[in-house]
Amino acid sequence: MKKAFYLAPLVAMTLAGHVMAEGCEVTIDSNDMMKYDKSEIVVAKSCGEVTLTLTHSGALPAAVMGHNWILAKTGEWQALAGDAMAVGPDKHYLPEGDECMLAHTDLIGGGESTSVTFDVSGLDPEGDYTFFCSFPGHSFQMNGKFRVE
Ligand code: CO
Repeated sequence: MKKAFYLAPLVAMTLAGHVMAEGCEVTIDSNDMMKYDKSEIVVAKSCGEVTLTLTHSGALPAAVMGHNWILAKTGEWQALAGDAMAVGPDKHYLPEGDECMLAHTDLIGGGESTSVTFDVSGLDPEGDYTFFCSFPGHSFQMNGKFRVE
């Protein structure tokens, strides 16, 4: 009985301060305010393959307020964002073949959604990963942390 008494506050703290793994299917929304609805995504490495769905709940077209979702190592994402932006809209601001791009979706506009399935079994639970949107001018606020555990 005493053990439960001490554990209860610990569990509450864990839930408040830690983003729990969300399963092997993750949805992240984006909008006309140039924002994602998540700043951190955590998945279980044991998933193997994870399917991420990017939705755009806004109304603006991709040419004006396009969003994609790119995953990279945190040490590489800003350089990658610069390279991706330069690729242009016809190629979804995706530098095809760039090995810094660990996973990516296409670019979408308001009302659209897109998915990508990728392997997380090679990602490091101690690693530092960042996701971002490479539409010009978006990545400074459209970015977040990605973890496997
Ligand atoms: Co964007």
